[in-house]
Amino acid sequence: MSSEIIIERDEAILRLTLNRPEKKNALTRGMYSELTQALTQAQADEGVRCVVLAANGADFCAGNDIADFAQGAAEFASPDVDIETLPVFRFLKALTFFEKPLICALQGQAVGVGVTLLLHCDLVVAADTISLSLPFLKLGLIPEAGSTVLLPERIGHARAFGWMALGEKIGAADAFHLGLVNRVVESGDLAGAAYDLAARVAALSPSSLRHTKGLMRDPEALWAVVREEGRIFRQQLTSPEARAAFAAFMAR
Ligand code: COA
Repeated sequence: MSSEIIIERDEAILRLTLNRPEKKNALTRGMYSELTQALTQAQADEGVRCVVLAANGADFCAGNDIADFAQGAAEFASPDVDIETLPVFRFLKALTFFEKPLICALQGQAVGVGVTLLLHCDLVVAADTISLSLPFLKLGLIPEAGSTVLLPERIGHARAFGWMALGEKIGAADAFHLGLVNRVVESGDLAGAAYDLAARVAALSPSSLRHTKGLMRDPEALWAVVREEGRIFRQQLTSPEARAAFAAFMAR
């Protein structure tokens, strides 16, 4: 395991920490693969009762690594490559079908998949520093990770569309009022607050939790949405708008 994903076990709690702060924890194919493996193992390990997803540094996650996107674009965009072999989709599948409670500790900037993955978490505790943005449309792409369905379900169509299309940034107070986060705390209290929630959840009956989460979500239906978004996302990635946006970011 590389040090870009730190995996720590504290009795029944597994903590996965994005650890690439110098790149704002932008996610590479290697990081997706490590997260997938960790979630798969956590699902199978009866001793793991909940997973905390956290990040080192001031910011949670700047989304997909744009340089990594550019490097893997040919494979990513090729219709001959099965979507389920691509690291990001293997991660999204593990997330979609994850049966145990997933708790996110969120701070600073979160962008793109750094936001849409929150919609798969069962509890989110946020530092008061958060700023959440969804730049997919500005980049010539489309929202992913099931967010075209999960986000309007959560916050309503107009707010979801406005956030995705108008490039708005959502801070801690709005995220709380929209129901995107459970609790807002000061930055210094974030790790402790996430641990506190995890310990309380880990003390509950694992089968009660699994059944409750299973009844609250329909992973098969959600996975069909993720796949369909992915099919279109892959086409959009080679659009002139997306190429220009990525080239502009790389040339900064
Ligand atoms: N992919 C690759 N590298 C990224 C990145 C990403 N998504 N986001 C940030 N980085 C890198 C920057 O290139 C920079 O690297 P450098 O120091 O080697 O030049 C470093 O992380 C710090 O980023 P910087 O832009 O200087 O920080 P900031 O606080 O001014 O801005 C963001 C932070 C997240 C707003 C800005 O980096 C950004 O817009 N990133 C792209 C987000 C994005 O579009 N993601 C894809 C969604 S599909």
